[in-house]
Amino acid sequence: MMCMACSSTKSVSPFIQENVGFAKAQLGLAIDTIEASGKCLNPVTLNEKGEVYYCGYGDWRSGFFPGSIWYLYELTGDSTYLPLAKKYTEAIRKAENLTWHHDIGFIINCSFGNGLRLSPDTAYSNAMKQAARSLTTRFRPNAKVIQSWDVKGNSWQSKRGWECPVIIDNMMNLELLFEATKLTGDSAFYHMAVAHADRTLAEQFRPDGSCYHVVDYDIETGAVRYKQTAQGYADESVWSRGQAWAIYGFTVCYRETKDPKYLAQALKTFEMMKNHPRLPKDLIPYWDMDAPGIPNEPRDASTASCIASALYEISTYDVPHAGSYKKYADRLMQSLSSPDYRAKLGENGRFLLMHSVGSIPHNNEIDVPLNYADYYYMEALKRKKDLESKTKK
Ligand code: GLY
Repeated sequence: MMCMACSSTKSVSPFIQENVGFAKAQLGLAIDTIEASGKCLNPVTLNEKGEVYYCGYGDWRSGFFPGSIWYLYELTGDSTYLPLAKKYTEAIRKAENLTWHHDIGFIINCSFGNGLRLSPDTAYSNAMKQAARSLTTRFRPNAKVIQSWDVKGNSWQSKRGWECPVIIDNMMNLELLFEATKLTGDSAFYHMAVAHADRTLAEQFRPDGSCYHVVDYDIETGAVRYKQTAQGYADESVWSRGQAWAIYGFTVCYRETKDPKYLAQALKTFEMMKNHPRLPKDLIPYWDMDAPGIPNEPRDASTASCIASALYEISTYDVPHAGSYKKYADRLMQSLSSPDYRAKLGENGRFLLMHSVGSIPHNNEIDVPLNYADYYYMEALKRKKDLESKTKK
């Protein structure tokens, strides 16, 4: 059944048709498993036994599967996915009240945010507003940042002696705050997002454009205490997904504020990755570009799909050589869609992409599928499709 609100699959390139067809078949199998269980399961990755790991609403990755089903609905125009997208989104509604970590932006914006965009509903805007209020409880006015992780009761964080750790990933939570200002008319959300982005811009980057994973602040004085890593190879190394979060996050900040310094940072970080001497020929980064065993280190498809999605957006802005960003994103999508990274139908736990890395220092999720690699791949496919249909007109 074709939904009139959504784009048709006619007149799109064979590349998009084929990959959307694959996503429909592969995610369709995941949906069949979930529906047969009678529960609202939320697939994340494969565990060590090769079984699908399903998460609860509080996991930072709980919004990605519902979000992928929204993109599936949008990309196929098939209205049979609408009630499923709604059901999987509703299943994580309790996350709107989470105040014990910063990832509520990822969770709620990818699920309810896409729901609001594609099937406007007061219940969705209420969830977005409530989630934004929850996120602002983590704003620390002296440091002018949103604290990422709690330290008390969190052994990894307390062992490092951190007080107010902020991770670069947090840039991805700001979109929720920008949306909340649009939904409520209250500019406080916008100002907190800008304050966080500005402090991150000032403290989290190195002169070559790469970023630290963690910056820890003194809650009282707001001073920087440490610049370190949690998921990278070393404090001074280039943890690839962190670079992707920075590129994407600062692109969103530019979209919402039109302040060119944000786009300049996104581009500088991207150029650093693009020109990195250890970037492989297929452009899919190693999990950390300074990992000691390169070239025999795992790749991270989630980094590549997130960067591809951001580059499609950047290519729409008035920047020199705007078209080159689309070309690079297209090359990333070619690699990700090749048999080297795209799973075979029915394999890979019914996830789309293989070869991502959760966290090597935590010995967790190494060279596995991850639902956020799939989410940003779906988003990138949608952005590519939109761009190409505009050019055709
Ligand atoms: N936000 C956690 C990660 O990027 O792995």
